[in-house]
Amino acid sequence: MEVIVCPDAEAATSLVAKLIADRLRAKPELVLGLATGRTMERVYDHLVAIRRSTDLDFSGCRTFNLDEYIGIPGDDAHSYRYYMNRHLFDRVEIAAGNAFLPDGMASDLRAEANRYEQAIREAGGIDLQLLGIGEAGHIGFNEPLSALKSRTREKALTQITREQNAAMFDGDVNRVPLRALTMGVGTILDAREIVLLATGKAKAAVLARAVEGPITGMISASALQLHPNCKIVVDELAAAALTQRAYYDWVFQNEPEWEDYRSEIAARLAGPSGSDQLNR
Ligand code: GLP
Repeated sequence: MEVIVCPDAEAATSLVAKLIADRLRAKPELVLGLATGRTMERVYDHLVAIRRSTDLDFSGCRTFNLDEYIGIPGDDAHSYRYYMNRHLFDRVEIAAGNAFLPDGMASDLRAEANRYEQAIREAGGIDLQLLGIGEAGHIGFNEPLSALKSRTREKALTQITREQNAAMFDGDVNRVPLRALTMGVGTILDAREIVLLATGKAKAAVLARAVEGPITGMISASALQLHPNCKIVVDELAAAALTQRAYYDWVFQNEPEWEDYRSEIAARLAGPSGSDQLNR
């Protein structure tokens, strides 16, 4: 695991977008695992900006989202399908047939979960999985007590998660669905590379437990410690409770693979012309 601490949320979301763009350039038929949530909105904005200002091409890429609410149709503004269309799919050339989400309206949810796992396998597995973290410590919707070997399945949402996501339902927690279909922790760990992004002080405590605490099904994000190629990208606020900060910073400042990324952060800090450069 590597922890990259960026000066602010803008730099963190921009760094993640650049990493996705770099992987897509290196492999045009990339299989990309995607996440929703407010944190990701800026990542998709940055990615669209890179698409518009460079030769980045999404036409060979296939995407698999982590999760979807049960009982909310794809054309409803609260569904994750709708979120993805709005923030990414309608803005770049990802064909509808190449953008997969679990179907939360399926009449047989177990069969739908199995079908989703099968589709990921048929695509050759996920090359790069993007993750956020919920305040309950979840990745996808893998709430406390999720088995660390779990696969795509139906999961009941905790009250903390429903409260956290109420903002997307006009602040009304009672409108947030009780259940979701989500990739399992085992499904996520099968990805060849993982990037978890967290910003803001509300994530600081749970992020420190996930990264530096014991591996536990109570915080499904802690299972990422088992993954051989996992990056955690955070802003200063989300990094506030980490104890090994000097070590993480040393690695980021010295490892050659981060050289371009370091220069972009430096350019951003240097001023407005620097921040333009981030989108190139
Ligand atoms: C939802 C998603 C998670 C995401 C989380 C964080 O619960 N199922 O995959 O990580 O939101 O959301 P936000 O970025 O809004 O804090």
